[in-house]
Amino acid sequence: MKTNIVSTATGKANAYALFFVKKSIQFSNILSEEAEKQVESVLNGMNDGPFEDLEFLEIDNQPTIFVDAAKERGLSSLDHLRMAAYRLAKKASKRQIPVVSIMLADAAPEQFKSILLGLHYADYKFDAYKSKQKEAFQVTFEIVAGEQVAEFKKIAEVAAIENKAIVLTKNLINTSASDLTPAEFVENANTIAKFTPGLSIKVRNMKQLEKEGFMGHVTVGKGSSHEPYMITLSYDGSKSSKKAAKNARTSADHLVFVGKGLTFDTGGLCLKPPKSMPEMISDMSGAATVLAAIQAIATLELPIKVSAVCCLAENAIGNKSVLPGDIFTAKNGKTVMVDNTDAEGRLVLSDGLAEAGLIGATHIVDLATLTGAMVRALGYAVAGFFCNDDALALNVINCGEACCEKFWSMPLEEEYADALKDHFADLKNTGSDAGAIAAALFLQEFVPENTAWAHWDIAGTAFVSKSWKYTDFGATGFGVQTLIELARRMSSASDESEDAANEDADGEYATVEV
Ligand code: BES
Ligand code: ZN
Ligand code: ZN
Repeated sequence: MKTNIVSTATGKANAYALFFVKKSIQFSNILSEEAEKQVESVLNGMNDGPFEDLEFLEIDNQPTIFVDAAKERGLSSLDHLRMAAYRLAKKASKRQIPVVSIMLADAAPEQFKSILLGLHYADYKFDAYKSKQKEAFQVTFEIVAGEQVAEFKKIAEVAAIENKAIVLTKNLINTSASDLTPAEFVENANTIAKFTPGLSIKVRNMKQLEKEGFMGHVTVGKGSSHEPYMITLSYDGSKSSKKAAKNARTSADHLVFVGKGLTFDTGGLCLKPPKSMPEMISDMSGAATVLAAIQAIATLELPIKVSAVCCLAENAIGNKSVLPGDIFTAKNGKTVMVDNTDAEGRLVLSDGLAEAGLIGATHIVDLATLTGAMVRALGYAVAGFFCNDDALALNVINCGEACCEKFWSMPLEEEYADALKDHFADLKNTGSDAGAIAAALFLQEFVPENTAWAHWDIAGTAFVSKSWKYTDFGATGFGVQTLIELARRMSSASDESEDAANEDADGEYATVEV
């Protein structure tokens, strides 16, 4: 897929595409009066129902595709646009239309971004394991942007960076576990750090993890022939970003992402049933998502300090595997009895949360395909999240909404906390019947003090076994965009609060007492 953003149609198009979303995108300025009437009658017809989506009609003697963007139930209008753009791109490629002109002169920037992402999503395929790779027909989309050309070009650059991160996430997740071992993941992260200005990397191997007391990784990873690793990626936008340098401002926030990175989860000695095992190639989705998000954040040079901790291990069966009943001491000094070797994600995350504290996190967001209970509770379309800070929780919901990613707030229910207590150790790694809550309460025991923390359980949303929205079978890339948006909003919020502080200091505005 190629895009070409122009102010007026070049005349090179083989077909025109008109988006219809409750008339929020108009196109009267580009059509003849006669054609406008024709469009009007088609749109009225669409309201009545019989209209076929993506139908080709002759308008102004041009083949024109009408894209009905309000088809799917439960989606926001931005998501409808994305879906519609995805369907359009698939159809145009299938019909081998070389150039499609999309009339977007009246679109709002966020509508344009959503459409672009829909086109990008249509381009994704994962055929690395097919014996023959099929080349999809390449369509060029000419975006007619009117006076918004310059603005749209900037948005297109941002969308391309975000799409690259989504593609990276999906590729890592879809790669099978013998090909993406913890060491291979580290290789990928090293390459990314090398080629992303401003991004630094620290890698701890088994020996270093053990020496420094990151025993969650050691406990989970020791049963595998592939040793565990913990990666810490750091980007300081308050120093390296051009924008921040220009403004000479530093936000005090340090946003740290922590990702569960089980390159495979057999369940360990508490072996999983065969049916639910193949999907466990996706048990490193959290780590893939935080790696891709920090890469995009650094590339976008957002003026904020962000780090990403990837907790990598393989939960395998071997003669050194952790035994049910074994007790280890976690990095923060608490002792943990391994009641169930399949509840391994929370063990490696205890190290990730400790590392976030050691590097000075003010805000932590952890992402983990943590519990089957979350899949049963919310399915594949909504991620449940737990949060100890109201402002951060609201931010997560709002950022998710802006990115067409749905989040539902779940309770850190204290009444269930006693169920985590063990006879011998301080804690055990299983709890009450409310499995997703029990896991979150366990993690909370390892959150550094005075730190805003959100835990996203993406077990349902990270990987789908049937096609969903603009994703085929496999990884969805869920979470990448919301993480980037969170960093974006936190950086601009710190800009705004500093603006306010500066104005106060200058005495420009009188302080109003309430
Ligand atoms: N990786 C799984 C959770 C999971 C399930 C992810 C389905 C994606 C899809 C996790 O490590 C796990 O096995 N959790 C157990 C915990 C239980 C043993 C307390 C679960 O949810 O069954
Ligand atoms: Zn497990
Ligand atoms: Zn797991």
